[in-house]
Order: sequence, then structure tokens, then C-alpha cells
Amino acid sequence: MPTTLNRASQIKEAPATDPRMAKVLQAIKLYQRRPDALIQILHTAQGIFGYLPLNVLQFVARELRVPPAQVYGVATFYHFFSLKPKGEHQVVVCTGTACYVKGAQKILDAIAAGYGLKPGSTTPDGKLGLEQARCIGACGLAPAVVIDEEMQPKVDAAKVGAMVAGKTGVAS
Ligand code: FES
Repeated sequence: MPTTLNRASQIKEAPATDPRMAKVLQAIKLYQRRPDALIQILHTAQGIFGYLPLNVLQFVARELRVPPAQVYGVATFYHFFSLKPKGEHQVVVCTGTACYVKGAQKILDAIAAGYGLKPGSTTPDGKLGLEQARCIGACGLAPAVVIDEEMQPKVDAAKVGAMVAGKTGVAS
């Protein structure tokens, strides 16, 4: 794992003037600049940007007064954080045990095949990104997916396909 942000040359940056930075600052203030709220703050930042741009990581490090390497380490350690832009719409299919036994793999395969995607990739037009998660904390509602940050419980491949088609305007 890289130890400094400077080594993360492949990471995209958000413009310094991006007004979304103010929203990240709001979240930082909401958590009273507590370093132990780093994961929650990064979650908020990713929700705002769709991924974690380099200068957002630097900004969060500065505001929380924690080493940039620590922020980068957390952002790269957890699979639910992304340092690259995702699709305009994002589907996260949970393939944890509870979801897997209820057919999550079929859902994942259907979306992947329908849109020519692999987990972690985005369609060439940037419309749809597909992610795979190990557990999204909704095992009682398995199989569950998250579409554009919204949890969808007890779905099947057809249902997810219809929702994705509705969002992207492109049927699989
Ligand atoms: S395994 Fe899918 S929500 Fe827990």
C-alpha cells in the first residue's frame, strides 16, 4: 500500500473550486472534525462526488489534522471506497452469503452480461457502473442491491434489470 498521497499518481482530482467541497466541509463540521469519524466522512464525500478524488482526501486530512497517508490508507483499504470516477448510475450487487444463497450471483451476472460490464467497471459512455459488495448490512432483505445509493431489498435479476433500464434509459 502506498504510504503517501504523492505516490497515488493515478488518482483523479476534483477541481479546487468545486462547490461540492463545501458539502464535504459541512460533513466534517457535523462530525466536529473528529478523526474517528474518518470513515463516515469519506462515505459522505463519496456520496457527494461518486468517488474519492485526490484533493478531497487531502482536504479531509487537513481538516481532521490526520496524516494524508492515513486517509489514503483507509480509502484504499475498504472495498466500498473508490478512487476513480464511477458511472453516472451505480449498481452495487451484494454477493455476501445471505444474498448469494438467494440468487445474487444471477443478478450480478445478468447486469454484467446485459451491459458488458465486470464488477468494478463502467460502461464506455459512463452511464452505468457495476460494483460487487460482500455484505451491505441488509441480510434479512436478501438479495439486496444498491442502485444510486438507494438500497433495493428482495430483488431478482428481472427487477434489477428493469430498474437499471429505467435509470439509464438503456435496456440490457
Ligand atoms: S449478505 Fe447481502 S446484505 Fe448481508
